[in-house]
Amino acid sequence: MHIVLLGPPGAGKGSLASLCHSRLGVPHLSTGEIFRREIARKSPLGRRVARYVTNGRLVPDALVVEVMASHLRQQPRRRGFVLDGFPRTRRQAEGLARVLERWGRPLDGAVYLTSPEDLLVRRLSGRRVCPRCGANYHLRTMRPKRLGLCDQCGTPLVTRKDDQPRTIRKRLAIDRKACKPLIDYYRKGKLLYRVNGAGYVGTVFVRMRKLFRRQGWLRRGRA
Ligand code: AP5
Repeated sequence: MHIVLLGPPGAGKGSLASLCHSRLGVPHLSTGEIFRREIARKSPLGRRVARYVTNGRLVPDALVVEVMASHLRQQPRRRGFVLDGFPRTRRQAEGLARVLERWGRPLDGAVYLTSPEDLLVRRLSGRRVCPRCGANYHLRTMRPKRLGLCDQCGTPLVTRKDDQPRTIRKRLAIDRKACKPLIDYYRKGKLLYRVNGAGYVGTVFVRMRKLFRRQGWLRRGRA
């Protein structure tokens, strides 16, 4: 299965991409996670993207496409991919299409998660993340088993720098502007599929999996 997961900040892209990996065996790549990892390592790429990511602005298109092309190249072909947070603009979508065409790996679909804005704000302001392994939690809806500690590696959870109320509003505004041309691009290419992103993450995942099955994107015998 080759899909991109689209949706505003807080739509649940990261949480659902992780479930696609753990339950369906489809590897996922998240631009946000790649950038945050590089920032933490203080690598040359991390230094280039830090000011955009911390302030909730978009990293320039050409750089994002280059970084993702290099990560995609390292993925084993037969297992497919779920891309989370990429593409985010029409230009990035065009860049991705060129890369995939070159490799003969066309996209199956662009899955757009819809959610009301007040729900997005609630999700982002209650999010806690593991700075070590990147796992995602929520103060109310996806609590860790032990208060304040990551279930997977026991590291104390933190609030992402870009989850401050002012930055959340800015990210949502930037996304509103970039999203229409992106959605139009995939709609015109007959690749757009909308999934209702409201409700618990398990419920949304079941909706998504139904779509994958209906479209025949899952390999026989999986999930
Ligand atoms: P990125 O990390 O991709 O952030 P984002 O798109 O703003 O998305 P989020 O991670 O905030 O939300 P999400 O939809 O993944 O939701 P999540 O599952 O975490 O990017 C960060 C930054 O990097 C960008 O601002 C930009 O600077 C840069 N960047 C990245 N990609 C780029 C690109 N392509 N081009 C340019 N720049 C780029 O869920 C949120 C919370 O809600 C969690 O706490 C979760 O536990 C909870 N939750 C989720 N779903 C549910 C549910 N169904 N029920 C209950 N709780 C839920």
